[in-house]
Amino acid sequence: MSAQLDARWLPERSLNSPDARGAIAELGRNLTQAGFINRFGRLQIDDESDSALAELALGKYIDVALAVDLLGGPQSLVALVETGLATITEERRFSLSFEVLSDGKAMAILPFLDLSPEVPLDSVYAGSDTWLLRDQAWKYALHGKRAIDLGTGTGLVASFLTSRYEIVIATDINQRAAQTAQLSRELLPDPAKSRMHVVENDVASGIRRGSFDFACVNAPWVPAHRAIGRIYSEGGQTGFELPRRFILEGAELLAPDGIFIALCAELSFTNGFNPLRELLGTLEQRGFATFIDPTPAPHPFHTAATATAETLSGIETARHVTVIVQRKAT
Ligand SMILES: C[S@@+](CC[C@H](N)C(=O)[O-])C[C@H]1O[C@@H](n2cnc3c(N)ncnc32)[C@H](O)[C@@H]1O
Repeated sequence: MSAQLDARWLPERSLNSPDARGAIAELGRNLTQAGFINRFGRLQIDDESDSALAELALGKYIDVALAVDLLGGPQSLVALVETGLATITEERRFSLSFEVLSDGKAMAILPFLDLSPEVPLDSVYAGSDTWLLRDQAWKYALHGKRAIDLGTGTGLVASFLTSRYEIVIATDINQRAAQTAQLSRELLPDPAKSRMHVVENDVASGIRRGSFDFACVNAPWVPAHRAIGRIYSEGGQTGFELPRRFILEGAELLAPDGIFIALCAELSFTNGFNPLRELLGTLEQRGFATFIDPTPAPHPFHTAATATAETLSGIETARHVTVIVQRKAT
């Protein structure tokens, strides 16, 4: 068994290995049974005797023999190591190259930062805003049949939506993110797993309009000069060009009464221009109801938003918000 971990996160190889997928499914089953919760800043497991499982799911080293038990046998470990999802040390210690995010039901795989000195431009992202989107979805994603999570990243929010919708589409333009979401899907029990479908695409292109009861996105919103090409954060020259596309195209996906939520930054310029408010005005004219809900006060985004306001020319303020759009029933 090789102890060598590849320098990049390449989930495609694991997706092509039935044993690796089986190991992920076994991990998911065990974590569900143990009541494992791992939200940023909150970690919980029902029984102390499951502490090795919790360590495993956090990407820490555990004894190989324990890992064999927890992942469904030695062939599972071999498959995970061979496809780059895990490593084994000379001292027979085993660790996964990712951690499992979980709210107790929804689960997703968050790869550790790729091992190159620079964070790659196509890193798979999750952060405190992932949980903010999940919580906003909990509030606004109430009923219906079809939901879509645009720019899904790890797939955590799409995984959450499977508890409320029969069909959940998860999309991302970043191939490594789409493949990670596909791997996250393997953690889920049925029917959640069979409800979730992952596609690689640009915003909402090729997706049937007017057919979703719920849609959401945690849009990249950092201006280009600060995001330096990172797919997960770059929102265009001012940071609003990409959120604008997500909001326009996301709203068009809605069925009558359907709700779309987007996390993004609201920018206001010294000349009075506020591109988000202008966009929402356009949507109102097209028969949508819209609402802006600022995200809660002590939040990392306020620092990021302030930095944006300080570095982008012509900007007066920037604040992080949830945008809510509903297509009025005709
Ligand atoms: C801020 S991250 C959010 C990820 C995930 N939704 C979450 O909350 O953890 C933005 C995501 O949008 C994706 N993305 C960026 N540009 C996109 C585009 N043009 N079409 C679809 N997805 C895109 C990125 O790859 C990234 O996964």
